[in-house]
Amino acid sequence: MANFEDRIVETDLLILGGGMAACGAAVEAAYWAKQHGLKVTLVDKAAVDRSGAVAMGLSAINQYVGLRDGKNTVKDYVEYVRNDLMGITREDLVANIARHVDSTVHLFEKWGLPIWKDEEGNYVHEGRWQLMINGESYKVVVAEAAKNALLQSGVGEIYERVFIVGPLMDGDRCAGAVGFSVRDNIFYIFRAKATLVAMGGAVHVFKPRSSGEGMGRAWYPPWNSGSSAYFTIKAGAEMTCQEVRFIPVRFKDAYGPVGAWFLLFKSRATNAMGGDYMVERRDELEKWAPYGRVKPIPANLRNWLGMLDIKEGKGPIYMRTEEAIAKIAEAYKGDDKAYKKKMRELESEAWEDFLDMTISQALLWAATNVQPEEKSSEIAAAEPYFIGSHSGASGAWVSGPEDLQTEETREEYFWGYTNMSTVKGLFCAGDASGASSHKFSSGSHAEGRIAAKSAIKFIVENNTMPEIDQAKVMALKAEILRPLELYEKHAHETTDTEVNPNYIRWRQFMFRLQKIMDEYAGGISAQFTTNEAMLNRALELLGYLKEDSEKLAAANLHELMRCWENIHRMWQAEAHVRTMLFREETRWPGYYFRADKPAMDEKWEVFANCRYDPKTNSWQMLTRPIKSIFPKPGEHELLGG
Ligand code: FAD
Ligand code: ADX
Repeated sequence: MANFEDRIVETDLLILGGGMAACGAAVEAAYWAKQHGLKVTLVDKAAVDRSGAVAMGLSAINQYVGLRDGKNTVKDYVEYVRNDLMGITREDLVANIARHVDSTVHLFEKWGLPIWKDEEGNYVHEGRWQLMINGESYKVVVAEAAKNALLQSGVGEIYERVFIVGPLMDGDRCAGAVGFSVRDNIFYIFRAKATLVAMGGAVHVFKPRSSGEGMGRAWYPPWNSGSSAYFTIKAGAEMTCQEVRFIPVRFKDAYGPVGAWFLLFKSRATNAMGGDYMVERRDELEKWAPYGRVKPIPANLRNWLGMLDIKEGKGPIYMRTEEAIAKIAEAYKGDDKAYKKKMRELESEAWEDFLDMTISQALLWAATNVQPEEKSSEIAAAEPYFIGSHSGASGAWVSGPEDLQTEETREEYFWGYTNMSTVKGLFCAGDASGASSHKFSSGSHAEGRIAAKSAIKFIVENNTMPEIDQAKVMALKAEILRPLELYEKHAHETTDTEVNPNYIRWRQFMFRLQKIMDEYAGGISAQFTTNEAMLNRALELLGYLKEDSEKLAAANLHELMRCWENIHRMWQAEAHVRTMLFREETRWPGYYFRADKPAMDEKWEVFANCRYDPKTNSWQMLTRPIKSIFPKPGEHELLGG
């Protein structure tokens, strides 16, 4: 488009995203880049201070191994993750993060994040791996350190409010990225020797529970729309665990977290009849052995037991806040003053948990006269999300670290640079890298640091600027800006600009995507259930949607971003459906249930991977073996195991 300026930015390391992984990457990259005289550029679609999943703040640090206390080992953490994911996990990746995550948490504290301490000065744990924080300003604290590292060292620069659309390639090497400013008419061409993708996961691929005015309210932040998945898929990277969505059970409608209630307050959840599904349905867990027998019970199986109650019409399910608070306060009964003090403390902890990271839940409580010490609150399974850093696992297939490989794993899991995808020069961290769940905010930051250090090593050893084909860049520009042109050309043809035979607006396009996924790919309406025929129908309908994506129209830059967010979601959806179809079993019944393959099948204790080939516009599905890095006790002292 004539009124769009082209801006070319050349850099050594390009960090895409400004969330937890990207901020970790910035801190580490700045250190190594200075030593090697390299430049680092970070690009975020929003403002780093309040972008990504941690924007609103968090109430806990969910991954802290506590190696210095000697209570836990890295091996313990790997086992916890492997069990929670029903055996499907890359031990080398999980272990690598686990052995470094504590140092990241200590940095957070040094940078000013208030972590709760007990009277002896020890961290207050929510659960075995989780630390309580006053986390309203968590993201601001982490962002400040990243900005200082990049800007004060003189090695870096930060672009905010620039939406990254997709990769630039030089043959089989990633050559950078293209995107546009969401404020000014600028088309960005970033050329880089290495690119680190950290643009989070995806929400609103499935129809949300919230509708109308409340539609933007979801558990996962609405601004993460599958850009990491799109970027890596389109670059031709092998992807893993694309079927492993996450369904969190949350306080209903405002999505308040449950961790503090279950772990810290030791609350029960009961159905409308007062029954405790975790007790009444214990036998069901045997069907999912050996993972049904482990402690803690895997997140998806906890979901599943509650879902069975709902299917039988025993809902709603309630978090018994009043019971939990009463139980804790009971010890103080008899001493009126101490009892009152404890009750006030518990009440404030309960509200603080929401005010730290899910303010809307506190508002909903206030608006509906809920006093948690008096009244239970409804909880429900949310719509599916893609968040490889939490209890899902979707992301790119990346190389593990060399020193953690055994003879057996080396061949499968290592190809030169830690956290590099199967595409040369393309690194991934946080939600963007797969099969390494339960890294959360702290582990994502640690993984960002790991990936950045490795990317700098790649640059030092491959110190040439990849070539880019100007004709291809201009073709990409035309494709990316097309929605603006389409709107300009045709908007005047109808009285209501929403309805036009020549184009589709982003909102209607998103509704179509969500309806397909909801009904056929195991969304809320389908009670998280699907089968081969449904998935094939989803693929057929996604095919039509993809054709129509060429007709997306945008009235302004904001809508242009919305258009591309939804194209990104559509590709995430396709990878998801194809992989659910490929994996012929049900492995995570509380995430999705394949009714035609209703049990776990040993032969599917493998990774289900996929790769899109941009040259042939086709998908390849493949399995990769699961190999343990803990063959014999006593080995791998580095792991503390
Ligand atoms: P994010 O931190 O989400 O960052 C993604 C970044 O990419 C953002 O800066 C975003 O603006 C940017 N981006 C996205 N698309 C584009 C694009 N196209 N172009 C440019 N930039 C783009 N963890 C805990 O430890 N404790 C908790 O209590 C906790 N609670 C949570 C509660 C909720 C509601 C959620 C959703 C997550 C929670 N987590 C918690 C998990 C934690 O937030 C994530 O694991 C972590 O943020 C993942 O880091 P990331 O860098 O991969 O993604
Ligand atoms: S958060 O991401 O929004 O903070 P949530 O508060 O549910 O998630 O959980 C925080 C942590 O507690 C996560 O590590 C989660 O796996 C764990 N958790 C939540 N509920 C349980 C439970 N019932 N048993 C064991 N772990 C749990």
